[in-house]
Amino acid sequence: MAQVKKSSGVIDWLDQRFAVTKLMKVLVSEYWIPKNISFLWAMGVILTTLFAILFVTGLLLLMYYKPDVNMAFDSVNYTIMQEVEYGWLWRHMHAVAASVIFLIMYIHLLTGLYYGSYKKGRELIWITGMILFICFSAEAFSGYMLPWGQMSYWAATVITQLFGAIPVIGEALVEWIRGDYAVGDATLTRFFMLHVCLLPIVIIVVLVLHFYSLRIPHVNNLTSEEIDFDVEADEYLHGDKKKAKVIPFWPGFLAKDFMYVAFFMIFFMYLVCFHYGFAMDPINFEPANALKTPAHIYPEWYFLWQYEILRGFFFDIFGISASTIGLLSFAFAGAAFMIVPLLDTSDVVAPAHKRPLFFIWFWLLVIDLIALSILGKVPMEGREWLGFWSSTLFLFLFIVALPAISFIEKRR
Ligand code: HEM
Repeated sequence: MAQVKKSSGVIDWLDQRFAVTKLMKVLVSEYWIPKNISFLWAMGVILTTLFAILFVTGLLLLMYYKPDVNMAFDSVNYTIMQEVEYGWLWRHMHAVAASVIFLIMYIHLLTGLYYGSYKKGRELIWITGMILFICFSAEAFSGYMLPWGQMSYWAATVITQLFGAIPVIGEALVEWIRGDYAVGDATLTRFFMLHVCLLPIVIIVVLVLHFYSLRIPHVNNLTSEEIDFDVEADEYLHGDKKKAKVIPFWPGFLAKDFMYVAFFMIFFMYLVCFHYGFAMDPINFEPANALKTPAHIYPEWYFLWQYEILRGFFFDIFGISASTIGLLSFAFAGAAFMIVPLLDTSDVVAPAHKRPLFFIWFWLLVIDLIALSILGKVPMEGREWLGFWSSTLFLFLFIVALPAISFIEKRR
């Protein structure tokens, strides 16, 4: 055992057992962040804050929620909303945070894409980020089922049915996921388990990996300049702090991030108190009814672009049925962002405005995602071709355009 001496104070006592000073140096005070960044680099900390809000409000809701088809709806809409003190507040905070976390994730993801933060040593940051995105999608979907309203029931029915299109095992898989022939009590309890236990554990593990994957390549910067972090850290510690291109994570970076988090919280609480409606579908305030299909079934806003790709192909092509093409495109759309480091292999690490073709590609993608999301919300009738071309453009951008841009940049 290491020699333990009489300690000179609490920190020294902890140092001899936990090496806290060393740990704090590695994690925060000597973990370096470039100075040349903007508010867009605060999104990661805002996302962490939102996850903490979801976790804490989720625990409070869990004390009164009942995962049973006969009680779930009332436990949310009467017990929590009307009987528990401040129950409405925890529910609104949970629902608004679940929606806003996707908005911030999209901004965070698009920032990474714009500045090429998935390239040259940063691939694992990107991949763990995308795994987080998928886990949060599963978390949101499973959580949406829990109030057991009309949209909970019908969204679960439609989405679980999609697995039925997988050849050979499809039907058996649907039954296995639902735990029954139709969506019912067994489905609710297993989605409850996923939402409050398995997925949060997976999310926390992947979050730690996401943070760890930042440690060696460090975050990118506004000009995508390749910084020698050892040299700049030395300049900061032993030379001219002003001349150094980096600041420590704490207090330099995080103190400023807290300011952005504070601004964000004002906006967030404003939504929670005055505009929570956007995070809750009015149809979900009707109890689930297996005998009454809602006129339009659509997912929450953050899934709309992918949902539109699923239904965008409305005619058979070369003998392949429209539904199979839609399903394959939907599956590809789910993986498209994840494989960006494989599609864009050019060595050029630069912000999009320094890569003319990529700049056009980026903005076309943003416009297409917005168009798909708008189309996903409205019924198909009368505007089928718009959906078809928007979905086709999405596939074209990833399958053809991005590798082609990368190829052209490599030849220059
Ligand atoms: C709730 C989920 C997430 C949390 C809590 C989170 C947290 C963070 C934090 C704290 C940072 C460092 C500071 C910053 O650049 O903002 C970061 C960086 C990064 N994250 Fe995430 N992230 C999440 C989801 C994602 C997603 C969905 C992606 C998409 C692929 C992603 C990709 C990245 C990338 C590429 C960086 C490096 C940025 C750079 O080098 O400039 N993250 N993340």
